[in-house]
This record gives sequence, structure tokens and C-alpha cells, in this order.
Amino acid sequence: MNPMATIVPALLEEWMREYYFKTDIDIGSSGVESFSLGQIRKLLGITESELDNIVFDDSETLGGFGLRKAIAERYGNGDPERVIATHGSSEAIFLIMTALLNPGDEVLVLDPSYQQLFSIAKAVGCRLKFWPLRFENGFTPDVEEAKRLITDRTRMVVVNFPHNPTGASLTREQQEELVKATAAVGAYLVWDAAFAEITYDSAPLPDPVQYERCISMGTLSKSFGLPGLRVGWCLASANVLQRFAKLRDYTILHLSPLIELIAQRTIEQAPVVVGERLRQAYANLDILKMWCDEHREFVEWIPPRGGVCCFPRLRRISDVETFCHRLARSYGVLLVPGNCFNKPFHVRLGFGGATPKVMEGLSRFSNLLKVTAASAASAP
Ligand SMILES: Cc1ncc(COP(=O)(O)O)c(C=O)c1O
Repeated sequence: MNPMATIVPALLEEWMREYYFKTDIDIGSSGVESFSLGQIRKLLGITESELDNIVFDDSETLGGFGLRKAIAERYGNGDPERVIATHGSSEAIFLIMTALLNPGDEVLVLDPSYQQLFSIAKAVGCRLKFWPLRFENGFTPDVEEAKRLITDRTRMVVVNFPHNPTGASLTREQQEELVKATAAVGAYLVWDAAFAEITYDSAPLPDPVQYERCISMGTLSKSFGLPGLRVGWCLASANVLQRFAKLRDYTILHLSPLIELIAQRTIEQAPVVVGERLRQAYANLDILKMWCDEHREFVEWIPPRGGVCCFPRLRRISDVETFCHRLARSYGVLLVPGNCFNKPFHVRLGFGGATPKVMEGLSRFSNLLKVTAASAASAP
């Protein structure tokens, strides 16, 4: 049997498939409010004639040169030969795991994690080890623990900071220690920087591209408000990228020149695009803090250090998944149950949306918490 055919379902994606289009308020997604084409064109000064001049030729396998250059300059060492532009960072994850891993390889990954970061490796036949982020420790990553888990047998270390779903992150010093520990055993370091642009208590962490075997990823889906553009990227050695190109010849071949133009302009003017949404994220986080204070009876939480989601634990709710189904079906609110991350007492709460919508979502969430707790209390 082809091992990829037996891959386990991606629980978060299944949840989204069920409710993303059926709810009117989204406090479950992990990105900021999306832009329309008109808004992004205005923000970036993309003219109608620039769009009209695009010829729908094929693009380059690794991505158009201008886009790769923009990515290399913002996130890499300036060299476009170390960049592949991907169909979202989910394509990047798939390329990394299928091109570089073999059955029996040992892979260290954060727990909890975005599922693609470990289930593909599992399907390939790798042995997984988990580096836990514990709620009891404020989701603070214990780098000493990671160092103990990294051994001569480790083929790949997979991390994502700021982290989905907890919002945890590393300091610069911790990042350096992790790179050192990974380099000491010659393993790949997969650095998923999907949320890098949004931080609350420190400057964004740079991609650790100085390590030759680091493969870092980014995306326009989370901090840039362009999830439907489907553009991500990967920075890696030219040798690794060639292995990706070989696989890509059997899948998407290349991106569209139209998409690449918008992506290039977005990255060239990243502060303009991200800045718009960053202000909203700060404001929404303040609202969320107040809401959590007022709902201590129901919610224990750890404020995120980056990104626009957090991972509170619910109190007085015996079945969080059933609660989230009800919130979606009866209250029209998308919230993600923690079982999608193998943590059944938690929920992923996303606060990146338009402020009035986030407020409305929290208010409906609050109503159902009260109703559910009251009916549990009055049960015989
Ligand atoms: C940590 C992380 N990495 C990668 C992705 C993939 O996103 P996209 O393919 O939209 O870039 C996600 C999506 O939720 C994510 O949370």
C-alpha cells in the first residue's frame, strides 16, 4: 500500500471544511482580516494596466525571479537562488516532508502543532518525538528539554514560532541555542515562520538562514491577510530546492504570473500591508484580554506572544467539541475545538478579524458558555 494513501485525516482542515462557509463570524482562524483585490491594489498602487500587461505564460519552476528576489531580500540572505515560491506554505511543508524524509527517520516536532508539520512525516514512516508546550508552564518552550530530545538519530527538527495554536515563541537567544543543538547533530531545522510578522513583546525573529540545513517557510496567508492568494515560500540551499523542483514537476509545476505579481508587490511593501492589520491585532488583543478577565469562571488562558490566535482551556464545559459544534450550528460562530490539536479541553481562538466581528463572536461565545454551564449545573 502506498503510505501516503493511508495518511490520517487533517482534523483542523476537516473542521474548517465543515464550518468555514456555514458560519457568519470567525473566531477560529489563525490569520488577520482578509483583503479584497481592490483594497490590496489601492494599498500597493497596482494599476489596471499592470494587471492588463500580464501575459499568462508559464512561470519558472521555483517562482518568478522578481518574487523570489523580494522574498530573499526580506527573509533570506538576498540570494533568490535560495528561494522557492510555493502554493501556500502547505505546499512547502509537503515538499519538505516528502523530498527529505525516509522511513525510519527520527523527527522532533512541537506538541501541539499544526498537523501537517507531523502527520506527513508519520505517513512517510518516520519515528516522531514530541517537544511539549505545556499549558501549566505558560506554553513556554523549554529549550533544555529540546536539547535532550535531539540526538544523533534526529534527522529533522520541526518548529513553528510564533506558534499555532498557542501563540508561544522563543527569544533570540533560545532560537540560537536551538539552531546550535540542531547543527550539532547535522539535522535539518524546519522553521515555520507563518506568523513571524506579528509579535507583541519583542521584535520579529529572523529566519535562521545562516544554518545551511535550515529550511524556513513563510506565507501571505496569516499576517498579510491574503490566504486565498495561495502564496507561501521556502528558503533553503539550492541543493534542497532542486529536490523540491523534481517533485513539483509532478504536481503544480509553477505558480501563476498574476498571483506572483501581487505577491511580489506585497512582499516589497510588507510593512504597509502588515501594518494595517497589526494595529487591528493589537486592539483586538486588548479586547480579548478584557473578555478573558470577565470570563475567568469559564476560561483560563495564556496571552499570545505573536500571531493572532491563542489556546485557552475551557472550564465547566465537559465536552468542548460538542460545544464548538453547537456554537457553529446554533450561534453561527466558528471556533476550533482543541481535539484538532489533540488537546480536547482547549479551543483555538483567533482574534485577527475585523474588530466588530471579533466582539460579536466573543459575545455569542459568552452566551453559549453561560447557557451550557447553567444547564450542566441544573442537571440532576
Ligand atoms: C503553522 C502553519 N504553517 C503553515 C500553514 C499553511 O498555511 P498556508 O498554506 O495557507 O500558507 C498553516 C495554516 O494554518 C499554519 O498554521
